[in-house]
Amino acid sequence: MIPASESRVPSPESRQLPIAVLASGRGSNLAALLDAHAAGKLPVEFKLVAGDHAGAPALRNAEAHGIPTFALEPKSFANRREFDEALFANVAASGAGLVVLAGFMRIIDPLVTAQWTGRMINIHPSLLPKYRGLHTHRKVLRHGDAEHGASVHFVSAELDGGPVIAQARIDVRADDTEESLAARLLPFEHRLMVACVAAIARGMLCQRDGRTWFNGAPLAAPLKLDGDGRLAAA
Ligand code: GRF
Repeated sequence: MIPASESRVPSPESRQLPIAVLASGRGSNLAALLDAHAAGKLPVEFKLVAGDHAGAPALRNAEAHGIPTFALEPKSFANRREFDEALFANVAASGAGLVVLAGFMRIIDPLVTAQWTGRMINIHPSLLPKYRGLHTHRKVLRHGDAEHGASVHFVSAELDGGPVIAQARIDVRADDTEESLAARLLPFEHRLMVACVAAIARGMLCQRDGRTWFNGAPLAAPLKLDGDGRLAAA
């Protein structure tokens, strides 16, 4: 029996990990996953793409790829918990073994995050634990940081607070604006997202005892993304 504190996503190389992607808007991270899958570099099966805005481009793109989609409108529900329970009941019914939050701009109820411990990841545009929440590019500029980046982490009840898996870093330039930082970071986000989902699908990554494990050992520091888009020890 697997202890409650341990949650693995079983997926030998020969198998396709069933995943669900949640997205609220543009969907460029979803598009990166779809491209990697089409190129044979991502052993997953897209079971579902869902969100909180029916008109989100991410959902339209998923439909164009023949992936089941749906959107629930938060205002149709009495509170966050009811919305999340309805959303994740559908996610569970899809058969997904991993939930990928790819620009899903909502805080998720702790009851739900507890049910998906080790089976839900998020991408956040900062070098966590720095700058949880919104406006990360602005915060980087305000603090005069020399470096910026993106993190993929397992989701916990704490906003942007679960165990970090891997990070991609970029230098901050003297003439950077919020917009230029966001635009320069985005391609790194895409490579980071693809690398993390692929590693989970291949059974190389899991969460156990509140930590990230990579190839059977707990990480002392987040993995980094190398120049070839692969994950490596920092
Ligand atoms: C990304 O910057 C991601 O890090 C953040 O929301 C944005 C989503 O972009 N969580 P997209 O919808 O994937 O293009």
